[in-house]
Amino acid sequence: MKAKRIDGKGISDQIKQEAAQESTALQAQGIQPCLAVVLVGNDAASQIYVNNKKKACEKVGILSRSYELPEDTEEAALLHLIDQLNRTPDIHGILVQLPLPMQISEEKVILAIDAQKDVDCFHPMNVGMLQTGRKGFLPCTPAGVLELITRSGYTVEGKHCVVIGRSHNVGKPIAMLLLQQNGTVTICHSKTKNLKEICKQADIIVSAVGKCHTVTADMVKEGAVVIDVGMNRDDNGKLCGDADFDAVSEALGEQGAISPVPGGVGLMTVAMLMHNCIVAAKLQNNLL
Ligand code: GUN
Repeated sequence: MKAKRIDGKGISDQIKQEAAQESTALQAQGIQPCLAVVLVGNDAASQIYVNNKKKACEKVGILSRSYELPEDTEEAALLHLIDQLNRTPDIHGILVQLPLPMQISEEKVILAIDAQKDVDCFHPMNVGMLQTGRKGFLPCTPAGVLELITRSGYTVEGKHCVVIGRSHNVGKPIAMLLLQQNGTVTICHSKTKNLKEICKQADIIVSAVGKCHTVTADMVKEGAVVIDVGMNRDDNGKLCGDADFDAVSEALGEQGAISPVPGGVGLMTVAMLMHNCIVAAKLQNNLL
């Protein structure tokens, strides 16, 4: 028997609907939530992601303003734009799509965004707020992973959670959120020995590596939950996650669950961004 397929579409639609209700309530108070979306250069994947974010804004009742800059934009020009967006009171959130062209320092750009408008939750101030369990923004993909788990009816408390991948924006904050939910968390990475044995002990596996076939059927315990953050292309150019979906699903069995790619975490990232735009609009109007 195959594992349950976690319904990223249904869960992300629900979160967007909740954001839409909150947007309507804010508008009734004269506040129109607004997101500035900044795209620099011609990266094809980034263009698709940014369009998905703008479409979601429209659906949810969040205004989006687009800033598309050429590939050869100088760092100073982008920093100047961010400064202007920081100072514009009717813009609540600022999203600068990554990666940026080589001549621009991502670190400088992230630091330049007003922490109260940082809907990605990439600013070190907000990362620190997350680490210390304070209220505020949660990073979109990690928060989306947690929502996928909890809204599918699984709890994290007391579970052995194995996170594969330790990137600043994905792996590490996912581990932190699972820890805050009282999970027992193991973080694995490219230098980890015995990855298979560690994963075999996991009740929850979150894979954020970015490589097909990272999680195989022989690595999972029957009844475990697998959340696949990977968004990769296989040898035939087909979109795939980190897990061998069909074989892993079979190995997990009917008590297990797995999130598909596409149709899983990717949709959640956009939904949580909508939620963060609402948080930003509230924060700046002293409603939080
Ligand atoms: N590039 C890939 N994922 C993301 C994301 O969540 N936010 C931003 N700003 N850029 C990205």
